[in-house]
Amino acid sequence: MFVITGAGGRTGRAAAMHLLAAGHRVRAVGRSAQRLTGLAAQGADVREADPADPAALTEAFRGAEGIYAVIQPNYIPDHPDFGAFQDQVAASLTTAVTASGVTRVVGLSSWGARHPQGTGPVTGLHRFEQRLSTVPGVDTLWLRAGYFMENLLDHIGTARAHHRISAPFDPDIPLPFVTTADVGARAGEELATGTWHGTQVLELQGQRDVSMREAAGVIANAVRADDFTYQQTSLAGFHAELRSKGVSANVADMMAEVAEAVNSRCARTEQPRTARTSTPTSIERFIEEEFAPRYRAARPDGNPRQGPPRGGER
Ligand SMILES: NC(=O)c1ccc[n+]([C@@H]2O[C@H](COP(=O)([O-])OP(=O)(O)OC[C@H]3O[C@@H](n4cnc5c(N)ncnc54)[C@H](OP(=O)(O)O)[C@@H]3O)[C@@H](O)[C@H]2O)c1
Repeated sequence: MFVITGAGGRTGRAAAMHLLAAGHRVRAVGRSAQRLTGLAAQGADVREADPADPAALTEAFRGAEGIYAVIQPNYIPDHPDFGAFQDQVAASLTTAVTASGVTRVVGLSSWGARHPQGTGPVTGLHRFEQRLSTVPGVDTLWLRAGYFMENLLDHIGTARAHHRISAPFDPDIPLPFVTTADVGARAGEELATGTWHGTQVLELQGQRDVSMREAAGVIANAVRADDFTYQQTSLAGFHAELRSKGVSANVADMMAEVAEAVNSRCARTEQPRTARTSTPTSIERFIEEEFAPRYRAARPDGNPRQGPPRGGER
């Protein structure tokens, strides 16, 4: 039996689905059983546990052949100290791994997590790696995932209204764009096969490196908008925009730091691109299947359509 933390999230759900489809028993852990009904319908045992509650996680981990450990979400926009949140969840997961006697862990980390500072929220994942890797007798594989393609979905509004993606990244820096579905599926696969020993790191670099300028070109093709472009915003402008949307100073600082780390090449992939560090979904397929339908459904002015809130929305 494999335990998936963050099973209501993107990589967690994909990991659970991969294992269930391969015939494994799965325990899906999240804060709300309601958000895990889809996995329950596929045969998963559902366990409610707050990720910051080590006792609840310990109970959930007992008897597992392996666990998928993930700190979710990416960030909490109005959090005054998001690093403290990451540390609390990392400590809770580590305590639960120790107390439950689990011996196989696949943990979600990020490209750039080698660095102890200067990479925004990725430094929290660096500390997560350091902390959990100290538990003796556990085989831990850190999946250092690349830049999620799903980050592009945050830009649907401006994309639709202004035919552009604006972000602080250098337009021509190659980014290891990867989908969360591929990351989750690989987490499930690695958990089930368990071919490594001790603590290891595996970068998941996506199908190929893609720059922001190239990503905008793929979008232009998919949505048939020849004038669609990528526009690099200044770090100060990016920070001010986040603050104007209610993002805390702490989180805005972190997001700006990510951009600095990427543009300076401090955050970069370090392992050779091989079949094992690559994942299948191309940027073209992601844009066609995930981005373009949302783009077409958005209002021409880019504002969200009004309507009743959907169930389970945070
Ligand atoms: N964005 C990137 O490019 C990138 C790249 C590499 C690595 N990463 C890492 O990937 C991880 C995110 O993985 P993911 O995409 O699978 O997560 P995700 O789908 O974004 O996580 C969503 C889940 O987070 C939980 N959540 C939301 N708000 C919360 C709160 N206030 N407190 C506790 N839990 C909350 C919810 O789970 P429940 O309500 O079901 O409990 C929700 O289903 C992060 O550690 C991030 O640093 C991101």
